[in-house]
Amino acid sequence: MSESTLGQIKSFVIRTSRMSPAQKRGWERYGDRFIVPFNGDTVVSQTAFFPEGDPGRAVKLDIGFGMGRELATLAENEPETDFIGVEVHRPGVGRLLLDLGERNLDNVRIVPHDAVEVCRFMLAAESVDAVHLFFPDPWPKARHAKRRLVRSGFPELISRVLKPTGYLYMVTDWEEYAIQMREIMESTALFQNRYTREHRFAPPQSWRPQTAFERKGLAKGHRIYELIYDRLSGV
Ligand SMILES: C[S@@+](CC[C@H](N)C(=O)[O-])C[C@H]1O[C@@H](n2cnc3c(N)ncnc32)[C@H](O)[C@@H]1O
Repeated sequence: MSESTLGQIKSFVIRTSRMSPAQKRGWERYGDRFIVPFNGDTVVSQTAFFPEGDPGRAVKLDIGFGMGRELATLAENEPETDFIGVEVHRPGVGRLLLDLGERNLDNVRIVPHDAVEVCRFMLAAESVDAVHLFFPDPWPKARHAKRRLVRSGFPELISRVLKPTGYLYMVTDWEEYAIQMREIMESTALFQNRYTREHRFAPPQSWRPQTAFERKGLAKGHRIYELIYDRLSGV
C-alpha cells in the first residue's frame, strides 16, 4: 500500500468566509463554555472535555459537523451521551456555539481544528465509543481526490481513538467515494463491516437526523450510502 498522506495533504481548504452576526455572537457568548482548543502536546481525557461529567458516559465524535444543526439535534435526543464535534470552518463552529448556548446543551464540546491532528495527537487512545463522518467533502475532481479524508491511513487513525467495542459510521451521497470508503476500510483487519448484504451498505439509521448536505444530495437525485464498521478488538 502506498505511504499514507493523511498528515500532509489536508482534507479541507480554509477559505476566508465572513461570519454572520449570529455566528460571531456564538463565538463571543459561548466560545469559553464549549470550545476545547487543540493542543498537540497534551492528550485530553474525557474528564478534561467534560470536567463536571461522569467518566462512564458514552462519548461520540463527529468529524466535520458543518453548521452543526444535526449534531445539536443528536445531543438533544441523547442527553445521556457526550459529543465531541471537530470542525475547521469557523462560521460553522460559531453557528453551533449559538445553538448549544441557546438550547443549553451541555453534553457537547467543540475542537475547532483538523480532525486528523485531533485524532492523532489530542484524543486519548481508546477514548470514544463512536465516530460519525457524515457527508465528508467528496472532492469529486480527479486531481483533488487525494484530499479525501477516507484514504490510506484513515482506518488506523480511527481505530486508535475508538474503544474496543466502538464503531465508525460514515454516510455519503457520492457513490464513487462510498466505494472508496468500503475498499479502504476493508483493506485492513482493523474493522468489520456490520452489514453483509446489499453490497455491504447499511440500512438508514432512524436515529440519524438528516443533514444539510444530505438534503443537497437528495435534491440532485443522489442516492445515500451508509457504512458502519465495528472495531475489531485484539488487532
Ligand atoms: C460537506 S461538509 C458536511 C457537513 C455536515 N456533516 C453535513 O452532513 O451537513 C464537510 C465538512 O467537513 C469539514 N472538514 C473537512 N475536513 C476536515 C478535517 N480534517 N477536520 C475537521 N473538519 C473537516 C469541512 O469544513 C466541512 O464543513
